[in-house]
Amino acid sequence: MAKPSWLKNPWAQDPWFETVAIAQERARKRLPKSVYGALVAGSEAGLTVDDNTAAFRELGFAPHVAGLSDKREMGTRILGQDVSLPVMISPTGVQAVHPDGEVAVARAAAARGVAMGLSSFASKSIEDVAAVNDKTFFQMYWVGSREVLVQRMERARAAGAKGLIMTLDWSFSNGRDWGSPAIPEKMNLDAMIKFGPEGITRPKWLLEWAKTGGVPDLTTPNLTPPGGEAPTFFGAYGEWMTTPLPTWEDVAWLREQWGDGPFVLKGVMRVDDAKRAVDAGVTAISVSNHGGNNLDGTPAPIRALPAIAEAVGKDVEVLLDGGIRRGSDVVKALALGAKGVLIGRAYLWGLAANGQAGVENVLDILSGGIGSALMGLGKNSIHELTPDDVFVPAGFRRDLGI
Ligand SMILES: Cc1cc2nc3c(=O)[nH]c(=O)nc-3n(C[C@H](O)[C@H](O)[C@H](O)COP(=O)(O)O)c2cc1C
Repeated sequence: MAKPSWLKNPWAQDPWFETVAIAQERARKRLPKSVYGALVAGSEAGLTVDDNTAAFRELGFAPHVAGLSDKREMGTRILGQDVSLPVMISPTGVQAVHPDGEVAVARAAAARGVAMGLSSFASKSIEDVAAVNDKTFFQMYWVGSREVLVQRMERARAAGAKGLIMTLDWSFSNGRDWGSPAIPEKMNLDAMIKFGPEGITRPKWLLEWAKTGGVPDLTTPNLTPPGGEAPTFFGAYGEWMTTPLPTWEDVAWLREQWGDGPFVLKGVMRVDDAKRAVDAGVTAISVSNHGGNNLDGTPAPIRALPAIAEAVGKDVEVLLDGGIRRGSDVVKALALGAKGVLIGRAYLWGLAANGQAGVENVLDILSGGIGSALMGLGKNSIHELTPDDVFVPAGFRRDLGI
């Protein structure tokens, strides 16, 4: 029986939030400091992570006031999948944010008709994630021998992954001017004693984990060798650090191993690299700087997008990720040549704030914002957006590698 309204606590927080910024604030209050710090991430001075969102603020709209359309068509086809929004879940290693982790994210994405990207450093297996979202894409870094890469790729294919995302923008930069969060190698007794005080100040987060009878195990089940155990996050990172760096021939080789299905190269920021990716046979690229977590000083992807879309937009699907916090950001990216966008922190804040419902909430915020921007611009559909809908100030673009 529902509680009568006079029995409800008038100060209890409505779990629904109206913007991604509010979800972020709730995540900050709910998560232990080091878990929240791992999501904020960024590298070195934070120049890139800041520019990713600042750049969207520099772009303006050119709205109409009358003769607007009642239609707001947002459905599209990305990476061979019909999706209800031009938004996809970007792969992130969401260790420790929520007990249901990537499974909750994948369920939310499925409930809203969008595709899911699963990181190879994720806390849940490709089998568990693909079982709840039939539009799941598996992300790989260049970690291990060719034989091991193929074994992981084939496992993802067998689990039902619809495509592969190869992320190559990583240069092991470490050190942040605001300090990196301490993350234990394993959640053993020592770690619990060390991190206990942090957890105790976050009772709701602790309770959520307690309900599942567990603590975050900080392992990477998608990197488990056949018949072996899932490596720890840092164990897997060590394997990555000692793997020889890939060449363009390696990219073409992996693409060939995957066959005809969608193959995304994530992390492209230059026109010359975008052209090489086309030559290597990829079907899509994501213009991305790893959410500002890699080489600090790399400009925001939205600044690099126009030149890349002009150069290779006819050959491959051009996606973008980095700095998307509202529906109007999605519309700006589409107007400047992206076919769709991927989101990272936005859904992580939602997951931290309210689990699966929080991720659905974030997707609804983006959908609402896309609808408002389409209406203001007098467009029936995301497919009608053009660069003329956006005011791009002088000096905004970064045409790299031309
Ligand atoms: C905490 C965190 C973990 C990430 N882990 C991965 C990963 O495992 N693989 C990957 O390709 N990208 C990873 N990324 C990058 C995201 O996929 C995406 O490029 C980035 O978050 C987009 O920027 P945004 O957070 O501003 O939306 C990670 C990002 C964050 C914030």
